[in-house]
Amino acid sequence: MQKANKNTLNITDKIKSQLSQDIQTILDVCGKAADLYGFKIFLIGGIVRDLFLEKESFDIDITVEGNATDFCHKLVDSKLCKILQVNSDLKTVKVQFPNNIEIDFASTRQEFYPRRGHLPVVVRIGCTLEEDVYRRDFTINSLAVSLNKKTFGNVIDYVGGIDDIKHKKLKILHDNSFNEDPSRIIRGLKFAARFSFHRDEHTKELQEKYQNTQLHKDISWSRIKSEIKQSFSLENHKIFDMFLANNVEKLLYAQKPDVKGLEIKTLIDNHKAEIDFPWLVYLGCILNDKEIIEAFCFTRQEKKIFTDKDILLSANLSMINSNYDIYKFFEKRTLESVLIYYLLTKRKEALIYIEKLSKIRVELNGEELKEMGLTDGKQIGEMLDKILRKKLNGNVINKADEINFVKTQIK
Ligand code: CTP
Repeated sequence: MQKANKNTLNITDKIKSQLSQDIQTILDVCGKAADLYGFKIFLIGGIVRDLFLEKESFDIDITVEGNATDFCHKLVDSKLCKILQVNSDLKTVKVQFPNNIEIDFASTRQEFYPRRGHLPVVVRIGCTLEEDVYRRDFTINSLAVSLNKKTFGNVIDYVGGIDDIKHKKLKILHDNSFNEDPSRIIRGLKFAARFSFHRDEHTKELQEKYQNTQLHKDISWSRIKSEIKQSFSLENHKIFDMFLANNVEKLLYAQKPDVKGLEIKTLIDNHKAEIDFPWLVYLGCILNDKEIIEAFCFTRQEKKIFTDKDILLSANLSMINSNYDIYKFFEKRTLESVLIYYLLTKRKEALIYIEKLSKIRVELNGEELKEMGLTDGKQIGEMLDKILRKKLNGNVINKADEINFVKTQIK
């Protein structure tokens, strides 16, 4: 890293060594266009943090001091890119450059939270970079890097983000931050787990204060859902333990479950191929408040996992004596819900189903049974059920066994 002047850190070398040639070309071209048309533009947020951490970034955000829509139209007029999407309220633009590289351009903006916990409204587009930075979540996410030619690579750090990255510290920017946007509690834990950072004491206190005295249900749950989904999709089971150690269940109006992240991960890993929503196995071990499940606006498939979990938890297993009973008890439920049920209850029947019975299938089909002489649908259904019973008890193993069994039954 070189110093641009006595106080300015310049990270052109990091940009050159860590970003692809295509992206470097785009940044260069954007910087030149900004000079030509009189805009100041900056890399901002996660990408700058990730350059310092030498980690790959998920996406590239550029902020335009002024109106990003105007700037992007200049880029389009110069045939440098095409616009994919414009948010006319926030004045943000998603743009596609050659080789399908997508970049989000945002206008500098100040925001105001008219109702705590709800999405903010923009009060001023085109404020200064400094004003824009203060609406953000953590100091480590508030760094900007100039892309204009003369100052290319210069880091602008209004809030001590570089120091905090150095000391692996997560620090919220202002005391009302969690109250305005409680999804930042989840974000903080997500970043802590992802980068092995620790939250500073004041940030922890503010989180506890929110969870102990300021909780309210009328908030933007879609943001919380999105952050939880990202967190539990990191393939890092420790984040589940970290959530519980930091009482995140309170945020979800739930009780602390007696489950460890590693137990969940092990079970998921053993059934990876059969599970569509691993992140919901983690969440399903915590979330049970009906109102919040509704507020999460799950898709139909996602919601079924929670409905199935409720059905399983409220059922009575005292009549279940055989493998066949176990199979019938779980067969219509999503595998995710059976995993959650097992993790919460440790019922051995669930494990027998997950590990063994769920894999058992009758190989003969209705057509084949017809060819063997069975005629009406009821007979065929009953025969398939009889074969299933035999298979579940281990008396019938393969298709040849099934055929022999049917023959003895028909006789
Ligand atoms: N941001 C914020 N409050 C939020 C979400 C985002 O202040 N609740 C700001 C942060 O400055 C963040 C930027 O918006 O850096 C972009 O948000 P996002 O893309 O969600 O996160 P990144 O920080 O880029 O992290 P990731 O690598 O997980 O995408």
